[in-house]
Amino acid sequence: MRNIFIAGNWKMHKTSKEAEALVKAIIPASHNADGKKKVMIAPPFTALYVVNTVIKGTNLMLGAQNMGPEEKGAHTGEISIGMLMDVGVSVVILGHSERRHVYQENDELINRKVKLALKHKMEIILCVGETLDERESGATNKVVEEQLKRGLNGVSEEQLSKVTIAYEPVWAIGTGKTATPQDADDTHSFIRDFLSSLYSSALADELVIQYGGSVKPHNAGELMNMSNIDGVLVGGASLIAEDFIKIINYE
Ligand code: 13P
Repeated sequence: MRNIFIAGNWKMHKTSKEAEALVKAIIPASHNADGKKKVMIAPPFTALYVVNTVIKGTNLMLGAQNMGPEEKGAHTGEISIGMLMDVGVSVVILGHSERRHVYQENDELINRKVKLALKHKMEIILCVGETLDERESGATNKVVEEQLKRGLNGVSEEQLSKVTIAYEPVWAIGTGKTATPQDADDTHSFIRDFLSSLYSSALADELVIQYGGSVKPHNAGELMNMSNIDGVLVGGASLIAEDFIKIINYE
């Protein structure tokens, strides 16, 4: 039985004060979280410290939305893995489509970050997904396969236990358009099959694959009930405590 993993990506929203209020509202809903049902939030960097102090002793996990590819040094504007660990981050989101498409991060850069995080035993959520043009030209599986192959280059079987994959079709992010549960499940199934060819079917079977892209309280249940969808990576709806709590308690 695979774990369930519900995650909220707050993107570039919330000051420290706002983040503190939001996380306090979410904490009670995370009480049922445990090793089998994980709940994570990824506030902006500037709110990580305060959110970490508030969630101490709870089951909420603290995520970061990105990190720099180097350990330390002259890298103006970057945040290092050590800095994230220092403020209690245990999961980092890498390769989000906004990083790929707005900030031109390529698979090679993302792979450097993946390897650095895993070297420090940090959990990662590696995001993959196709654009609308790619979907319409029938290239979805090919695009996702390349992103996985390059993103996970050099990642060992042992390290795979720290990896979650998030399938986020670019055209579904922030648009109100969701992949149908069946379409999402088909791509998740493709991802699992591809990873079983890269690693082993036993490891691919254990791997948690989240869906992301306009996940809301009304569609979380139907997505989560698909056999290959093990979690969700939520953007907009994770900024509203009531909505995110409904998603955590999906049926
Ligand atoms: P939305 O839920 O706002 O579409 O964002 C999805 C996402 O990008 C999560 O990482």
